[in-house]
This record gives sequence, C-alpha cells and structure tokens, in this order.
Amino acid sequence: MSLWMANFIKMNGEYLLKALPFLLKSVKILLYMAKNHFLWENNRSNMGSFIKGLGFYVPENVVKNEDFLKYMDTTDEWIQERTGIKERRYATRHKESTVSLAAEAAKKAIADAGIQASDIDFIIFATLSPDYFFPGCGVLLQRELGITGTECGALDVRNQCSGFIYALSVAHQFSSSGMYRNILVVGAEVHSMGLDYTTRGRNVSVIFGDGAGAAIVQPSSEAGQGILATCMHSNGTHAEELAFINPGCHGGRYGDIEKYGYLDEKEYGGTFLTQKMLDDALIYPNMNGQLVFKHAVQKMPEAIMEVLNKAGYKPSDLKMLIPHQANLRIAAFVQHTLRLNDSQVYNNIQKYGNTTAASIPIALTEAYQQGLFSSGDLVCMTAFGSGFTWGAVLMRWV
Ligand code: UT7
Repeated sequence: MSLWMANFIKMNGEYLLKALPFLLKSVKILLYMAKNHFLWENNRSNMGSFIKGLGFYVPENVVKNEDFLKYMDTTDEWIQERTGIKERRYATRHKESTVSLAAEAAKKAIADAGIQASDIDFIIFATLSPDYFFPGCGVLLQRELGITGTECGALDVRNQCSGFIYALSVAHQFSSSGMYRNILVVGAEVHSMGLDYTTRGRNVSVIFGDGAGAAIVQPSSEAGQGILATCMHSNGTHAEELAFINPGCHGGRYGDIEKYGYLDEKEYGGTFLTQKMLDDALIYPNMNGQLVFKHAVQKMPEAIMEVLNKAGYKPSDLKMLIPHQANLRIAAFVQHTLRLNDSQVYNNIQKYGNTTAASIPIALTEAYQQGLFSSGDLVCMTAFGSGFTWGAVLMRWV
C-alpha cells in the first residue's frame, strides 16, 4: 500500500467506517440492477406482450333513435335497417368528457389487471374527440388518475376508428422491447358534443355514440401467448371523405376564401375559425358513407387475413372476431367474406352506436366479461375508418 493511501485511511478511517453501510448498500443495489438488466436482456428476444386487464365505461344517458325525430327528418326504421343501431349513450354536459369516460374505463382495467394506477409507466390515448385541441388527452388522463407524480410518458394517437388497433400495436412494441411493464391503452370518444343535429347532418349524427374502453398491456415471455401479430395500413387518397376539417390550421389550403372565408383585415392568423365556417355550418364532421362502406368491407377482411397468415392460422381457428362497430351490415359482410359463424363475431353497435376508437375495447371487454372467450382462445380485432386507416391485431388470450 502506498504511503499516500496509508495516510488517507489513517486520517479518514472514522468517516470511511461510517460510510461503509451506505457503500455496501449502494453496491447491493448496483448488483441487483445488473442482475435484473441481465435477466431482462436475456429474455428480450423471446418477449411479447399480452392484455392483462380490461375495462369499459359508457355514460348513463341513453339516446334512442326516436329521440332524433324532433330534430331531423329520420326514422327508427331507417337507422336500424341501415346501421343496426337502436340506441347510443351521450355524455352529460359540464360533467363528463372524453377524459372522464376514459378515466372510468381505465380504473376498471387497472383493477382487472390487479395493479395500482401508480404502476402505469406509459399511457397511450386514442381519440378523435379530444377534450382540448392541445394538450392531448394522455396527460389529462394521467392527472385524472392522480398519477402525475410518476411523470410517466403519455402519447395521443389520432387514427380515428382504427385508433385502438394502432395504439395497441404501439403498446405491443414498447412492451415487447422491454421498455415498459404496464402500459395503459385507452380508446375514448365524446362525439355527441360536436355533431350536426339537423337533417343536413343526419347521415353522421345518428351513427355515433360516446364511450370508453381501456386495456393494460404487459410484457410476456411465453411464446405463442398474448399478441401474436399486428398490422397497420393507411391510404390518404380519400382523407376528406370522412373528416372533421374545421376549425383547423389548414389555412384554407384545400379550399379558397369562397369556401372558408378569412378575416382579411388581419395580417396574420384569422383562418383557424372563421365566421363563414360558422355561418355555413362547416364545423361538423362529414362522411361519404357509401365510399367508406365499400373500402371497409374490403380492407377489414384483408387485415384479418394478414395477421392470421403472419401467425399461421386460418379464419376457422378464430374463437372470436371483434370488428370495429361502424355498421352492423359491415360486420355482416366481413363475417360472410371469411365464412365465420355467428358465435365467432361479437357485435354491440345496437346498444352503443359507433364509438370510434372506443368501439373495439368496449366490445372486447363485454365479450370477455360474458365469457365468450377465455385463456388459450384465438381472438382477432380489426378496424377501418377515417384516413383511410385500418389494421388488425391477433391474440392468443392469456
Ligand atoms: O366508423 C367510421 C367509418 N364509418 C363507416 O364505416 C360508415 C360506413 N357507411 C355506412 O355505414 C352507411 O353508408 C351509412 C349508414 C352512413 C348510410 O347508409 P347508406 O345505405 O349508405 O345510405 P346512403 O348514404 O346511400 O343514403 C341513402 C338515403 C339518402 O337519401 P336519398 O338521397 O336516397 O333521398 C340519404 O339522404 O338515406 C338518406 N339518409 C337518411 N334518411 C333517414 C341518410 N341518413 C339518413 C337518416 N335518416 N339518418
């Protein structure tokens, strides 16, 4: 030992002795971290993910088809015949919002997964009807759940009807890579606050409903379990055929002053929301229903076949298909194309209408709670919607 070292110990021996427990504890923590990291890295190549918990929430307020008769020229027969919808739920003003519905669904999913809200290390929130233009719903949900202290990440997904499929696919990647252990994936919508309740908007307004569904995604090291395959697609050719364009930051680029109007006296700005948009009622979603229908019945079966092929299965192997609840006739087309029987396809659009990003997690949770599938069953989910975007997820239920 050098003279310098001997002197150092002699002078600081007392302090070193006091610091010894702390040093040992630090070494122990470092060894624990290294061991965990080694195990994690070792398992990583075999890792996948699965849904550990599910939950859904819909507002109490039931709106029946007949309730629209006082606002627009429509009938219960038309709505049921063309869509299958009998009723839907609407959020209560000043009390509920997309985020509050999401929080209720999330609390149920958290309880179902047997974890605490504070265990969530990432939030993925899919919606087309956010509480605010910005910030996104993910951070508002984090606040609503009382977990701002965790400072976990929050991501908003804006893929409309296929939002939950995209969100779950992202969660699957983050989970399988070992990045997060409890990802909260939510699809939630409050459509009712922004629809056109006149005859002009009847092809859209009678279809949509409010609600939320949530899932807790965890990593899994069991081969062939949980999420087996995902696919995501888009084609922006018909972006405006199912869209909510105004207010927006497009600056009139896709139309002219004639269409949107400008506050000409202003040097900057003044195009986000113009008086003309309000006067001409250009502030509602619009949909070319027939065009969307035609693409949906083609792309949803394609997406299902893609994930089945990736995982080496065929339609008859499916225990349950959860199609996005856009229209009962679309679901029937998909079922017919894949030669599935009634017990293999779950629909609940009759009760809730089209809840966009929430429709799949709501239907998945209901089917799961009704015992329509259980551990070991092959479950597929698929969606198509605005964008156009579409996709599918195939799971071996754990
Ligand atoms: O989840 C997002 C993705 N969205 C979808 O997947 C929606 C796909 N599309 C559809 O579900 C259907 O196209 C709709 C349900 C939206 C419409 O059904 P359709 O059989 O395609 O009807 P249509 O649009 O061809 O309209 C037929 C008639 C029209 O009247 P005319 O022009 O024939 O006189 C519409 O004005 O039905 C009229 N109509 C209505 N009548 C009574 C449209 N909406 C209504 C209504 N009540 N609510």
